[in-house]
Amino acid sequence: MVGRALPRHSSELTWRDYLALLASRNTTLEEVWQGRLGQARLFPAPTGRHALWAFLEQAPLKPGDEVLLAAYNFHPVVQILVQRGLIPVFVDIEPQTLTLDPDDLPARVSRRSRMVLVTHMFGHPADLTRIGAFCREHGLLLFEDCAHAPGTLHQGAQVGSFGDGALFSFGVYKILNSLGGGMLALSGADADRFAVPGFAARPGLGSRLETLARLVFSVGSTPGMYGLTLHPFLRFCENLLPKLARTLDPSDNDPEYRFDPAGRAPFRPFMAEMLRRQLARLESNVARRRAAAEGIRSCLGQKAESLWLQPDRHGLANASYLGVRLPDAVEGARRCRERGVGCREREYLDCSRLPQFAAWAANCPESTRAEKEILRLPSYPSLSPSDQERVADAVLRALSR
Ligand SMILES: Cc1ncc(COP(=O)(O)O)c(C=O)c1O
Repeated sequence: MVGRALPRHSSELTWRDYLALLASRNTTLEEVWQGRLGQARLFPAPTGRHALWAFLEQAPLKPGDEVLLAAYNFHPVVQILVQRGLIPVFVDIEPQTLTLDPDDLPARVSRRSRMVLVTHMFGHPADLTRIGAFCREHGLLLFEDCAHAPGTLHQGAQVGSFGDGALFSFGVYKILNSLGGGMLALSGADADRFAVPGFAARPGLGSRLETLARLVFSVGSTPGMYGLTLHPFLRFCENLLPKLARTLDPSDNDPEYRFDPAGRAPFRPFMAEMLRRQLARLESNVARRRAAAEGIRSCLGQKAESLWLQPDRHGLANASYLGVRLPDAVEGARRCRERGVGCREREYLDCSRLPQFAAWAANCPESTRAEKEILRLPSYPSLSPSDQERVADAVLRALSR
């Protein structure tokens, strides 16, 4: 049975959260995060990418220095390293968590290595204990990509506080959604010497329209609205306006992508207020997402156990992204969508094989496999037991034909 279309992501914002748009209170991010990130200094940024850019601008790094990072990654992150004259050195991932494999670090480190960039992919905590020890042993900076990871814990503590710096992202597809926005967290010894990053603000009207578009998108991706609004609109664009569809729902690789530090609206006070509200319920959000993922898993039963990753291998995952392994994620996604189940294949790619990074190509077989096999399924709190059954049913059908 194909019921109403299920989005792959829902922000779980309430009308009260949207009212925060009217707030102009200047709250500091330290007040908003209330010690969740230890003593870290927190800086607002237009996006997570800007936070990384700002860190690299002031970190003790020079062109030609090598940065070790997982090959299975968000390609704009690699592009930012390249634009700053740094050399990306690709490391393979652990198949169970999709995060950087510490066992592969010794083979990739060199005299020119200066930093490890670790991504808590899908909100799965990476093995920060071993990666941190490796960085200390080799005198490397550690930067954490926490775009997916608010509420993700390692040794009981929020990730993002273990490295010298960390980026967070609050875009419309993220577990904390402030209609855009990002944050740089600095915990390293040099944090106090770091100047507040100044981001060029985009002129008013453009940035207000951007915020409006994200607002419409966030409302349209709530389960009650999705089937009536965003779903038909995205299908229409896919068929008739593929370029617009790609802008709304960026996918696959874009070898032409260049990061533009001045290209986004600045972080605004209402974003801090939206974050404060969502952080107050982050733990219950995570618990409900984990329960939704567990519900799908139990509907799938024993015969599908091999599909599952081990998100909690190095701590507690926030279930912000639910990934399963299918023989062919592209075909699996097509079949799930036929059943009205929103999902996403090839959301992250093996960057060690992308044409724009060919100069730094590497052999990372688990990253290649993840690109081919990982399918992201819905796992938001409002996914009812019958929705969970529908997701499981779509996955079983994707496997059975
Ligand atoms: C793994 C990862 N890193 C970094 C980012 C960058 O975040 P932003 O879009 O806020 O720049 C994203 C965004 O999707 C991401 O998925």
